Amino acid sequence: MEQVTDGVYYVGVNDHLTELFEGLWPIPEGISYNSYIVKGEKTALIDTVKIPFVDEFLKNVEKATLFNIDYIILNHVEPDHSSSLLRLLEKVPNAEILCSNKAKGMLDTLYRVTDNVRTVEEGETLDLGGRTLTFYMDPLVHWPETMVTYDNQDGILFSCDAFGSYKALDFGIFDDKCDPDIFYEETIRYFSNIVAKYVKYVKKAMDKLSVLDIKIIAPAHGLVWRKDPQRIIDLYVRLSERMALPGVTVIWGSMYGNTAKVVNSVVDGIKEEGVPVVVLNFSKDHLSYLIKETWKHKGVILGFPTYDGGPFLNTSYYLHLLKRKDLRERIAGFFGSSMWSGRALKQAAEQVQELDWEIVEPLLEFKGLPTDEVLEQAKELGRTIARKVKE
Ligand SMILES: Cc1cc2nc3c(=O)[nH]c(=O)nc-3n(C[C@H](O)[C@H](O)[C@H](O)COP(=O)(O)O)c2cc1C
Ligand SMILES: [Fe+2]
Ligand SMILES: [Fe+2]
Repeated sequence: MEQVTDGVYYVGVNDHLTELFEGLWPIPEGISYNSYIVKGEKTALIDTVKIPFVDEFLKNVEKATLFNIDYIILNHVEPDHSSSLLRLLEKVPNAEILCSNKAKGMLDTLYRVTDNVRTVEEGETLDLGGRTLTFYMDPLVHWPETMVTYDNQDGILFSCDAFGSYKALDFGIFDDKCDPDIFYEETIRYFSNIVAKYVKYVKKAMDKLSVLDIKIIAPAHGLVWRKDPQRIIDLYVRLSERMALPGVTVIWGSMYGNTAKVVNSVVDGIKEEGVPVVVLNFSKDHLSYLIKETWKHKGVILGFPTYDGGPFLNTSYYLHLLKRKDLRERIAGFFGSSMWSGRALKQAAEQVQELDWEIVEPLLEFKGLPTDEVLEQAKELGRTIARKVKE
C-alpha cells in the first residue's frame, strides 16, 4: 500500500493475467486498476477493481482502513472499475455509494445495487471533515455516466480513465519512480484504442478541468503523475486535438513480396526530409498499434496488394476501424501491387476521404513487380508527404 499524500492511499492492483483488454487490445505489460482511499474525519474509497483481483484489493483496503469506510465513490461503472463493488459491500454494508445520476441506473442493471446510492451533481462537494472532494461530470470519457473527483486540499484529480494508460505498476505508482516515457506511449495507445471515439468530449472535459489547480493526476489505470502532472495534461490536450505530430506512419502488407519491395523507397523518401517515420506491418502488428501510430502522426502511407477486388483483408479491417474510431484529418499516400482488376488503392482512398484525409496523388498501383520508375515515384511520395507534415 502506497501513500499518495498525507491521508491519501493507493489500494489498486496489477493485472498480468488478461491478454486482451476489453477482449480486443493486447496488454503484454499488463494493466493496473487504481483505487484510492481519501481520509478526512470520514473516509472515502474512489473506484474499485476488476473482479478477478478482488481478494488482493480487499486486503489493501483493509490495511488502509480496517474497513472503516463511509463513502464509496464510483467515477465510472465499466466493470474494470466497478465489478468488485458487491464484494466490497459485504465488508462495508453501511457505506454510502456516490455516483452520477446515469451511473445510478447502471448500478441497478449491472449489479442490482439500489440501496444507499446517492447521486451527485456537477460541482457538488463532499465534506469529509478536514478535506473536501468536488465532483465534475465527465460524460463519454469514457462512458456517458463518467465523472471525476477532485481533492481540494492536495489538488489531486482522480480522473478515472482520462489520463490512464496500459501497463501495470510493477515498480511503484509514481511518475518519478517508473520510466514515464513508456507510460506516455501507452497513454497514447490506450487513448487511441479506447477513448478516441469520444475525442470531442475529451476536449470539453479538458477545457472544463483547466480551471482547477491540479497538482497530482491520479487516474484509474497507469501512473500517478505527481512530479510532472503538466506533462500528461499537455499530452491529453494534444490528444484531444487529434495529436497529428509531424511524422509519418508507414503500414504495409504483402502476400508474395511485390508490395514489400516498395517499402524501403517510401521510407528513404521520408528520411531524406528528416521527418520521423514508424514502419508497421498489417500482418504482424496488432491493430491496436496501427491505430495508435496513425493517431500519433499527421502523415500515413499505406502499402497493400489488391485482394478479391478490394484491399488486402487486414487493411480493410484497419480502414473500417479508422471510421469506427473517427480518426480524421491525416495526409495520406498509397502504394500496392495487383495483377488484373486492381482497384484496392482507389477503394481505400475513397474510404478515408470520408474522414477528411488529404490524399496525395498518384495512387501508386502497379502490376506484379514494381518497376524502377515505380520505386522512384514511391520515394517521391515519401518526400512529398514528409514535406507536407512539416508545414
Ligand atoms: C487470394 C488473392 C486474391 C487476389 N485478388 C486480386 C484481385 O481481385 N484483383 C487483382 O488485380 N489482383 C488480385 N490478386 C493478385 C495480387 O494482387 C497480386 O499477386 C499482387 O502482386 C500481390 O502483391 P504482393 O506480392 O505484395 O502480395 C489476388 C491475389 C491473391 C493471392
Ligand atoms: Fe472505461
Ligand atoms: Fe477503465
